[in-house]
Amino acid sequence: MKTRITELLGIEHPIFQAAMSWASSNAELVIAVSNAGGLGVLAGGPMRPADFEKTLKAIKTGTNKPFGVNIPLNNSKAPQLLDIAHEARIPVMIASQGGPREHLARFRGIGTKWLHVVAYVEHAKKAEAAGVDALVVDGAEAGGHPPPNEVGTLVLVRRVVKAVKLPVVASGGIADGAGVAAMLALGAEAVQLGTRFIATPEASVHDAYKAAVLKADVGDTAFVGRGGHPVRQLRNAFSEKYSLREKAGATKDELEALFNSATLKQAALEGDVAWGKVEAGQSAGLVDEILPAAEVMRRLVNELEEARKRLSA
Ligand SMILES: Cc1cc2nc3c(=O)[nH]c(=O)nc-3n(C[C@H](O)[C@H](O)[C@H](O)COP(=O)(O)O)c2cc1C
Repeated sequence: MKTRITELLGIEHPIFQAAMSWASSNAELVIAVSNAGGLGVLAGGPMRPADFEKTLKAIKTGTNKPFGVNIPLNNSKAPQLLDIAHEARIPVMIASQGGPREHLARFRGIGTKWLHVVAYVEHAKKAEAAGVDALVVDGAEAGGHPPPNEVGTLVLVRRVVKAVKLPVVASGGIADGAGVAAMLALGAEAVQLGTRFIATPEASVHDAYKAAVLKADVGDTAFVGRGGHPVRQLRNAFSEKYSLREKAGATKDELEALFNSATLKQAALEGDVAWGKVEAGQSAGLVDEILPAAEVMRRLVNELEEARKRLSA
C-alpha cells in the first residue's frame, strides 16, 4: 500500500514499530521490523552514547532497509546522541519532547527525513511551520507519555489531519490490522504500534513485563501523574499506591516524589512489574500472544487487507 509516508521514507508498509525506551533500545527489534517492510525505530533516550553508536552500527549491518531513531530532544544526552545519529547518517529521525527547528538543516544535509511526535494540534502546527517532513500524533490510549489532556487517538488524529498539510502517522491504541485500517480511514498515512511490539521475542524487556502485557485487558492501565508529565502504564501496586495518595489529597511534592520513586527501567530490566512503571497502552487488552516481530508485521498487513475488503464489500 502506498501513502505519502511510504513514499517519503521508502518503506513497503505504512507501519512503524514505535520507539519504546528499553523495549526498542536494541538492534534486534528494529532490524526485524525494517526487514519485514515496516519502519523499526530505535529508542535512543535511555541509551549510553557508546551503546547507541554500537547499536546503530549493528542495525546498519542487519538491514539495508530504512529505519528510524528516536531522540527526546530535552534529554541531557541529546546533543551527543544527535551527533552520533548524524555521523551514522540515519535515514529517519523521530524526534520527541522539544523543538526541531535548530536541527533540521544539519539532518536535511545528509538526507534524513525528520518526523516529529506531537500530542496537541497547536504543537502539530508549530512543527509544520518549523519545516519537519511529517508528524507522529500520539493519542491518550498510548503507552508511555500520552497527551496530558487525555484526548483519544480517534479524535486527535482526525483533528490534526484536518489542521495540517503534512502527512500524519497515527499512534496510540492500535494493535491489529483493523486498527490500522481505522487510522488510514481517518486520513493518517501510516500508524505506529508500541505495546503490540512489546510482546515479541525481540523486544528487550524482562519476560515478566511481557507476561503482564499479555495478561492485561483494555481497562487495566492507569494514567499516573495527572497535572505533571503523566505516563500510561499497567495497573500495579505502584499505580494503586499513587492513586490512593492522590485521592487522599497528598501534596504536589509528595506525589512528585512518589512518581519519581518508580521507574520504567525497574520494570523493563529488573522485571519488577509490581513497583516499577510498566508502561503500556490500552491496546495491551488486544494483545494475547508473543509472536516474532516479522510475524506481527505479516499479520498486520493481512488483517489490514481483510479490513479493506470488508469495508469495500
Ligand atoms: C514501554 C514504552 C516506552 C516508550 N518510550 C518512548 C520513548 O522513549 N520515546 C517516545 O517518543 N515514545 C515512547 N513511547 C511511546 C511510543 O512511542 C508510542 O507512542 C506508544 O507506544 C503508542 O501507543 P501503543 O502502545 O498503544 O501502541 C513508549 C511507549 C511504551 C509502551
